[in-house]
Amino acid sequence: VFRLILSTYTVSGLLCSAGEEVVRLQELEGNTVTIHTGLTGVQSDAHILWFYRSENADIKIVISLIIRGEIITDYDSERFRDRLQLNRTSGSLTIRNISREDSGVYKLHIITGSISVWSFSVDVYAPVLKPVIRNQAEKRSVSLRESCSPLCSVENVKDLSLSWYEEKERISSINSSDSSERLYLPLNKTDPNNSTYTCVAANPVSTQTTQLNITVLCFINTVRNPNEAGRMKLLVAVLIPVLIVGLLLVFIARVWKKKSKQQGKQSWSNRSSGPE
Ligand SMILES: *[C@@H]1O[C@H](CO)[C@@H](O)[C@H](O)[C@H]1NC(C)=O
Ligand SMILES: *[C@@H]1O[C@H](CO)[C@@H](O)[C@H](O)[C@H]1NC(C)=O
Ligand SMILES: *[C@@H]1O[C@H](CO)[C@@H](O)[C@H](O)[C@H]1NC(C)=O
Ligand SMILES: *[C@@H]1O[C@H](CO)[C@@H](O)[C@H](O)[C@H]1NC(C)=O
Ligand SMILES: *[C@@H]1O[C@H](CO)[C@@H](O)[C@H](O)[C@H]1NC(C)=O
Ligand SMILES: *[C@@H]1O[C@H](CO)[C@@H](O)[C@H](O)[C@H]1NC(C)=O
Ligand SMILES: *[C@@H]1O[C@H](CO)[C@@H](O)[C@H](O)[C@H]1NC(C)=O
Repeated sequence: VFRLILSTYTVSGLLCSAGEEVVRLQELEGNTVTIHTGLTGVQSDAHILWFYRSENADIKIVISLIIRGEIITDYDSERFRDRLQLNRTSGSLTIRNISREDSGVYKLHIITGSISVWSFSVDVYAPVLKPVIRNQAEKRSVSLRESCSPLCSVENVKDLSLSWYEEKERISSINSSDSSERLYLPLNKTDPNNSTYTCVAANPVSTQTTQLNITVLCFINTVRNPNEAGRMKLLVAVLIPVLIVGLLLVFIARVWKKKSKQQGKQSWSNRSSGPE
């Protein structure tokens, strides 16, 4: 009975899949995802099958049959192992801990008297990381104004966009390309004024924002150049003790001179008589 049903289904399945509509889902990696069918009362004796399209071949991932009045549900794919759960009432399929590798087309076949087919395209994304704002002109020693050119960047992932916002208005953006490891977007303003600028990285499932603090990025950094500050500290630390010691020496020398003028003869005679 089992084999018979499968072979019948395969033939009619091919016939029915033409002209199907594809539902698109975009999901966050690691989540538990339910592919909802929108159905509410699948016939209780229906045969339900789920397929996953991998490299142009459909692999069977769920098969739920009624054999002599008994429900037999198998999740026999190595790839999804114990991450699947079928709801026989709706035909919906739940996938736990979905990964980017699980992206692809999922097909549902419900066989009663006839066969009905649904297709779902699932794209799984990693969350985007927080964008980083650097001062592109850090190394150049030019005037303060020219020394500020904020550059926003973020690790590149699929379907990523990186944008600069001035207040709530988007002033520039770039889309991810396949080739690069990071995505870069300079703030196209020679003189960022007192508006609020934010850099936003987004993919279809997540968003991360970093606000530009022009004071910290461009002014504090240039004034508090770590090298210069270090040198100043060293200078102060060395100069002050040297000065104090110097002044002390001068003072002692003067006192010594005075004393030796007054007591010169006595001390010389004392000394010469010492060895006896
Ligand atoms: C199965 O789906 C039906 C219809 O959507 C729903 O009412 C029911 O709670 C679901 N059952 C489980 C176990 O999730
Ligand atoms: C989820 O899947 C990833 C691999 O895709 C695995 O490293 C991780 O341990 C899984 N997490 C859970 C909670 O099963
Ligand atoms: C980025 O992609 C979106 C749609 O994905 C498109 O609307 C937009 O124009 C693209 N932007 C650029 C700068 O290519
Ligand atoms: C912003 O970029 C456009 C072209 O992308 C350029 O023509 C313009 O001069 C730039 N403006 C500033 C302030 O850099
Ligand atoms: C920004 O604001 C500060 C004080 O809040 C002011 O000193 C400075 O001139 C302003 N800069 C611009 C470009 O408006
Ligand atoms: C900042 O400069 C833009 C033009 O570059 C201007 O439209 C805006 O009003 C300025 N905002 C402030 C607070 O000065
Ligand atoms: C920028 O940073 C300075 C110093 O940390 C802080 O005082 C100031 O409030 C910040 N400005 C904004 C707009 O966050």
